[in-house]
Amino acid sequence: MGQTITEKILDDHLVEGELTPGEEIGIEIDQVLTQDTTGTMVWLQFEALDLDEVQTELAAQYCDHQTYQFDFKNTDDHRFLRSAAGTYGAYFSRPGNGICHQVHKENFAAPGKTLLGSDSHTPTPGGLGQLAIGAGGLDIAVAMGGGPYYVEMPEVVNVHLEGELPEWATAKDVALHLLGELTVKGGVGKIFEYTGPGAENLSIPERTTITNLGTELGATSSIFATDEKTKDWLARQDREEEYVDLQPDDDAEYAETIEVDLSDLEPLVAAPSMPDNVAPVSEYEGTDVEQVIIGSCTNGAYEDILPSAKMLEGREVAKSTEMIVAPGSKQASEMLAREGWTAEMMAAGVNFSEATCGACIGIGHVPASDSVSLRTFNRNFEGRSGIEDDSVFLCSPEVATAAAITGEIVDPRDLADDLGDLEAPGLEMGDKYGPGMGRDDSDIISPDEAIDDGLVKGPNIGDVPLKDDIDVDGGEALLKMEDNITTDHIIPATADILKFRSNIEKLSEFTLSRVDDTFAQRALDADGGVLVAGENYGQGSSREHAALCPMYLGIEAVFAQSFARIHKANLFNFGIVPLAIDAETYEKIEQGDDLAIVDDVPAGVRSGQEEFTVSVNGEWEFTADLDASERERDILAAGGKLSWVKQQHSDG
Ligand code: F3S
Repeated sequence: MGQTITEKILDDHLVEGELTPGEEIGIEIDQVLTQDTTGTMVWLQFEALDLDEVQTELAAQYCDHQTYQFDFKNTDDHRFLRSAAGTYGAYFSRPGNGICHQVHKENFAAPGKTLLGSDSHTPTPGGLGQLAIGAGGLDIAVAMGGGPYYVEMPEVVNVHLEGELPEWATAKDVALHLLGELTVKGGVGKIFEYTGPGAENLSIPERTTITNLGTELGATSSIFATDEKTKDWLARQDREEEYVDLQPDDDAEYAETIEVDLSDLEPLVAAPSMPDNVAPVSEYEGTDVEQVIIGSCTNGAYEDILPSAKMLEGREVAKSTEMIVAPGSKQASEMLAREGWTAEMMAAGVNFSEATCGACIGIGHVPASDSVSLRTFNRNFEGRSGIEDDSVFLCSPEVATAAAITGEIVDPRDLADDLGDLEAPGLEMGDKYGPGMGRDDSDIISPDEAIDDGLVKGPNIGDVPLKDDIDVDGGEALLKMEDNITTDHIIPATADILKFRSNIEKLSEFTLSRVDDTFAQRALDADGGVLVAGENYGQGSSREHAALCPMYLGIEAVFAQSFARIHKANLFNFGIVPLAIDAETYEKIEQGDDLAIVDDVPAGVRSGQEEFTVSVNGEWEFTADLDASERERDILAAGGKLSWVKQQHSDG
């Protein structure tokens, strides 16, 4: 039987298991990436594992999420990350050089290679034919040490694209269309493989916008076949020799096929406050907009900002509105500047930021209270912008710019009709630029250039907490939560909190504070307990702090109707037992109930027991399911992955 692109790459990298959907497989990792919010823990864990040197073909450390060095803790973290990259042999990308996914795409992403990254949008270079997966930091540390990465073999879904995008519809609308159809849970346990003549019509930046947003579907990854456009794009980055032809076999079998005719698409928005709350722009026309931001790992490439610049030529940003452009990489900034577009946009009233994630996680450019912000980002979870009850719409750069011009949400097609001289920008490379894209790697320090003076730790950088073994018997339901609790709810990523990312004792004080600000203290007072949640618990980022901090507070188990993939792996990694419950049980449990696990959990985890009986206040019982592979059970039994890997090393 023929193979899909995904199966071909996995086959090449398979070290354990078989490519049967649902079965756990172990794969060899070629490249890893990490960023500044997750990277400090990655390197502290790498150090705790007593590893000497990066074993993967390539490792890259980016400083992108919190680049504003308004607090010495951030600067200390960046210095520590640079020292760790130098000590262990990773590339180091300086703060301000850009967002990990954009900079990795430009410099290192290669078709046919595997990439594991401690950031949920790691699948972005799937648009170039790389099989890229997001994971928790500890999984990255282990992969960098040469260990395989374990994941449940996903189902491979074919998204068959026909036709061409009409004027004013964009790659963002392809992704939003899928989110509207499939929801934020629609991709769980799946890899989306984009094929068909419509896929060939999309540029590489358009493809990577779509693969980036695959994360919002909950997908394990997303990937495109390679073609002349891939080769040309790599050549422009002076990396043509890394091109590999990747196609599915004619008789490849997919679990499912989704047909999308690009010519049917129209400009869309994701309304507050979920990326799958998708509607045509026209539904919200006339809504006042106070802030517009173009950028992020989704739409921060040169080719994303160029259409906006063209739309603004000879025009101005409305007086009622602020427009900010935060390029995804310094390369994008540099190209816009060299071609004169930066000056044009500034003259139109645009405020330029350094290349950073920043506003995407509420670090800078926080919207005014009770106002609407239009952003070209990938997430609009409530409060993520830095203010509770925010009103963030996600959209394409074209829709965002149309709103900046008028001060209100407007379908760009209607704006073009009204203005008469506004043309759909189209995508094209700049005229004045040479054959390359001006690959500027002066802000990337290679392992050869690094100064290896050992690890430099400032006072805010603590130790990695360790558990010795599993010790679980249940406890008070300290918090009962709804569906779709995100890692932003568990550990908010705003500047005032995230600066403690390398200091778990301090950071844990903020655990679940956005749901209940008494939670951390109650957990400490109760000496631990359990959590209860609805569907899709832990969706969103790969942030392992969302498991590490609850572990630090003594949380032993999470009872949820379902779990997001990366977060579930993080719970195993930090020795917290993820137990699945049905909807009826969820409804009956109340916060404050005593959930005593009747069975011997450590013995059950070790013996492969799948169902555990739980007594509620000694009055009624329910059954909770542990869905875990043998390896995950071993990890739990050891008290977490760090202890497990250390045990394995000492055993042999
Ligand atoms: Fe950064 Fe937001 Fe992407 S935090 S990595 S720009 S999702």
